[in-house]
Amino acid sequence: MKLIFLGPPGAGKGTQAVKIAKRFQIAHISTGDMLRAEMREGTPLGKEAKGLIDRGELVPDDVILGMVKSRIQKEDCKNGFLFDGFPRTIAQAEALEAISAIDRVINIEVPTERLISRISGRRMCASCGAGYHASTYADANCKCGAALYQREDDKEETVRNRLVVYERQTKPLIDFYVKKGLLHTVNGNAEIDTVDAAIRAVLMK
Ligand code: AP5
Ligand code: MG
Repeated sequence: MKLIFLGPPGAGKGTQAVKIAKRFQIAHISTGDMLRAEMREGTPLGKEAKGLIDRGELVPDDVILGMVKSRIQKEDCKNGFLFDGFPRTIAQAEALEAISAIDRVINIEVPTERLISRISGRRMCASCGAGYHASTYADANCKCGAALYQREDDKEETVRNRLVVYERQTKPLIDFYVKKGLLHTVNGNAEIDTVDAAIRAVLMK
């Protein structure tokens, strides 16, 4: 199974992707997580990406496509994969068509005011990549034991620019995938398990 999770920043793509990837035994490919790993390791790619990510701008298409092409060759992608945060531009979506067929695109819909409160309370684990929300998880450490941190691009000003960038560059993908007959929209403004059930229902169709 080859899936794309589409949606604005804070929609819950990562939260839901972890659950679905585990359930269907497919690889979870988050281009955002891959870029953050490059930044942590201080690689040339990470250094190039950091300035853009911290301003809420997109990383160039050719950089992302290079990363994705080599990632899907890995052994854990044999059974399929789930793209979280990719593609993000029409150019990326068109390039993906030449690389791999996709079975379904799940568009997670959440009202903008909810997105801002979700992102401002988000806490991440640098070790296992788990995500939490400060309002429901007060601990300073992840369940795996490592310390939680707040993403540099989760500051309110950057979040607002990420939302503008989403509207301008990523939202057009909704129409792109509607026209391909691949898009399924799910209400992401519900309990995490309710959203998970709605996504599973689409995937069982
Ligand atoms: P990326 O890491 O992909 O960030 P994003 O798309 O902005 O999305 P987020 O990770 O912020 O949100 P999410 O939808 O995953 O929500 P989450 O599950 O965490 O990209 C970061 C940057 O990298 C980009 O800005 C860009 O610069 C660059 N980049 C990445 N990919 C790129 C590409 N393809 N091309 C170019 N540049 C690229 O949930 C958010 C919070 O809400 C959490 O606290 C969570 O616990 C909580 N939550 C989730 N679901 C619910 C729920 N149902 N109810 C209540 N709370 C919930
Ligand atoms: Mg994410």
